[in-house]
Amino acid sequence: MSYGDSSIPRRRFDSLVIGAGGGGLRAALQLAQAEANVAVVSKVFPTRSHTVAAQGGMNAALANVLPDNWHWHMYDTVKGSDYLGDQDAIEYMCRAASHLVVELDHIGVPFSRLDNGKIYQRPFGGQSQNFGGEQAARTCAAADRTGHAILHSLYQQNIRAKTHFFDEFFAIDLIKDEEGYVLGALVLEIETGEPILIEAKTTLLATGGVGQLFRTNTNARINTGDGLAMALRAGIPAQDMEFFQFHPTGIAGKGMLITEGARGEGGYLLNNDGERFMERYAPNAKDLASRDVVSRAIYLEVREGRGCGPQGGYVHLKLDHLGTEVIKKRLPGIRDTIMTFLGIDPVESLIPVYPTTHYTMGGIPTNRFGQVVVPLQQSAEEPIPGLYAVGECACVSVHGANRLGGNSLLDIVVFGRAAGNHIIDFLKENRHHRAMNQEGVALALERLARWEKRGDGESVDELRQALQSAMEEYCGVFRQEDVLQQGVDKVLEIERRLADVTLKDQSKLFNTARIEALELENLVDIGVATVVSALARKESRGAHSRTDYPERDDEHWMKHTLFYKEGRKLDYKPVRTKPISVDSFPPKKRVY
Ligand code: FUM
Repeated sequence: MSYGDSSIPRRRFDSLVIGAGGGGLRAALQLAQAEANVAVVSKVFPTRSHTVAAQGGMNAALANVLPDNWHWHMYDTVKGSDYLGDQDAIEYMCRAASHLVVELDHIGVPFSRLDNGKIYQRPFGGQSQNFGGEQAARTCAAADRTGHAILHSLYQQNIRAKTHFFDEFFAIDLIKDEEGYVLGALVLEIETGEPILIEAKTTLLATGGVGQLFRTNTNARINTGDGLAMALRAGIPAQDMEFFQFHPTGIAGKGMLITEGARGEGGYLLNNDGERFMERYAPNAKDLASRDVVSRAIYLEVREGRGCGPQGGYVHLKLDHLGTEVIKKRLPGIRDTIMTFLGIDPVESLIPVYPTTHYTMGGIPTNRFGQVVVPLQQSAEEPIPGLYAVGECACVSVHGANRLGGNSLLDIVVFGRAAGNHIIDFLKENRHHRAMNQEGVALALERLARWEKRGDGESVDELRQALQSAMEEYCGVFRQEDVLQQGVDKVLEIERRLADVTLKDQSKLFNTARIEALELENLVDIGVATVVSALARKESRGAHSRTDYPERDDEHWMKHTLFYKEGRKLDYKPVRTKPISVDSFPPKKRVY
């Protein structure tokens, strides 16, 4: 088939969901159970989506282990976000949490249990009782495989509800009409290389984060920000892209995640002097301070010469005092990971760890109903008709400048469901498909045709590695003006080099080569958004630490960044500090 041919195969659905992680599947389930005709497009088999890798758990103030309530959870989340989170969305999420955990329990998620039969909850970073008091225990866990348990249950429920799956299809671009309605997307069947147009009355992006922008990360190879880049190309800004979370405990030099649950169960960090150094950085919360705080502390210990190992390049995580029984029962997955990748057993050995890129706090701007919104004059926002986004590709924004561990599984379930409900109402008002925009289809096909070209130009893989190294070197845990400026220059040079990339001239070209090229384009678009946004924010807040602007500056920077691809333009919008039904938590000094 020629890509210039507009008579490509078409399928029609009420709703299209792009991405089959927890956010996409929770939304799809809501829709399918309401008897909407819903299609889920996923570039991998659904249960391989990155939600499967979430380890430690999902926050909800069930109070099964220690006293708790949703309002304390809300306070911790606002504080954890370094006051950049939108408080209406945070209230909505924290209030909904307990109900949604029970619902997951009822659809078959095998949560670990306490002796009294209630759902097991472990302490996680940044959690407190009574608005900043004693440590709370709020994270509902299925051992250390909570995401796996949730994803599989949601998939099974979707099969039962007759959701239609396009497994191993890659989304190329959104199609919009002249009035701005989103009409669906052009997707590519990976196995055959055939494009298909999926027409839908609503399209929901749930494509996850962009951890692959950085060399060392906890993310799957698939996390290339496809939905976010599609939104950027459709003229939608990317919000708060300067905020990437570095998880404190990746396996040193490799990046695989060692769950915060390991510290929740009583593990702690040691430097080369055998000192439990977090006591200096966070006297109350210690190893369970918020992730940005712990990551910076590890980085500083290493920089100041107190790192462990031959090059002093990491710190140790100590778990051996927990005992074999606790490790086998509560942390079996990370024990496997450590034995596989390090050849040591945490039951008896210290584990070398170092911060690793983990989570994209920024993303596609949405409201708490999952609608994608763009700013209008004077703080007002306008939804893009027919377009929704949830989960890590979205920025609702409940995580602000720093996400709390255990809030991402919660986010996807809460806002997946909220978007599903909003779409159901939208479908009642919008009963018919709108006319397809053939020009939009032709443009999307052109993007695909670009990767038909063969030759000996730059290689996709080399450019991807150059991008990942540049992001790590110039836009890492600590940042400063001249280094960030170099980062912008490097990434823009990579963007220029993209034009010289060709796929190798082979008689049989695997379609995965073309997918990797399309993913690289997405990564480059997001890399530009990230460095440009980071250079512009002249303060330190949450995960964005500027050595040249070490303080948070609420007077000038209580605002979200909006980056537009067109003209690489930046704009800002105020943080929504007004919750739905309770008093605001005004910014104050953030100590743990
Ligand atoms: O450490 C972890 O288990 C990760 C959890 C999260 O990112 O929420």
